[in-house]
Amino acid sequence: MFALFADLEKIQEEFERYARFFDLSDPMIKMKYSHSHDVMRVGGKLTDDLEWSAGAKRVGIAACLLHDAGRFSQYRDFGTYYDGVSVDHGDRGYEALLSESDRYAEVTGGKAWEAILQAVKWHNKKSLPELSEEVAPFCRLVRDADKLDVFNLVQRRMDEGTVGELLPRHKIEAPLSEPLLNEVEKNWSGSYKHASSLLDFLLIQLTWVLDMNFAPSLRLLEENGIISRICDHFPKDDRRVRNIMDGLLERIEAHKQEALFQGVCTNSRRRMGA
Ligand SMILES: [Fe+2]
Repeated sequence: MFALFADLEKIQEEFERYARFFDLSDPMIKMKYSHSHDVMRVGGKLTDDLEWSAGAKRVGIAACLLHDAGRFSQYRDFGTYYDGVSVDHGDRGYEALLSESDRYAEVTGGKAWEAILQAVKWHNKKSLPELSEEVAPFCRLVRDADKLDVFNLVQRRMDEGTVGELLPRHKIEAPLSEPLLNEVEKNWSGSYKHASSLLDFLLIQLTWVLDMNFAPSLRLLEENGIISRICDHFPKDDRRVRNIMDGLLERIEAHKQEALFQGVCTNSRRRMGA
């Protein structure tokens, strides 16, 4: 067990100060500002469900709020959120926050600040490297909370008919792309570089479920009916697509069972001083 300190109120003030350097009247930047707050709320819910200690909760929630710090300057400098043609926004957020470490040192303990920085850096990578147990649970938390909010956001924007603004690189009516189908068939994961349609994005989202870390995250997905809502969009009369979906759903079910019934993903409770 290790002591963790983070003054969440002060961290929120720092985040607001940082965000005000950017043009929040631009809807694309405002969207990331709102997403940061939404991910913070999801992080709060998950850390409650995981019964983390009060200190760990505050650090986890702060990491969720700050996770997309790199998005603001990414959009200002490159006019896109596509990392493939701009910068890795996890790395950029890490650098941006690192350069503000003096300000944050006053409102976090050293271990807490290091955990937050690492969670920001690794939140968007395809997979997590070997990380210390002082850092790894926060990285896992941010990755789950971020995905959960993006699932909700995409569904909401589809319902409102505004998903095209959210995903400007993706053609709304286009079919699944061949390279992405090949990749998912082979690895059960998908890369943005192979995604050009909304269906591609939804297929990549489905593969995210296999990377979700905590049982409460999977429960939230279940409660919101997200997986079946996504599946409804795929063509039913294409045998290849159907086989890929069946394989993916089978793996998702096995992953859920492992998390929900064997508790493999909830063992961080012990480590987090619950
Ligand atoms: Fe992100």
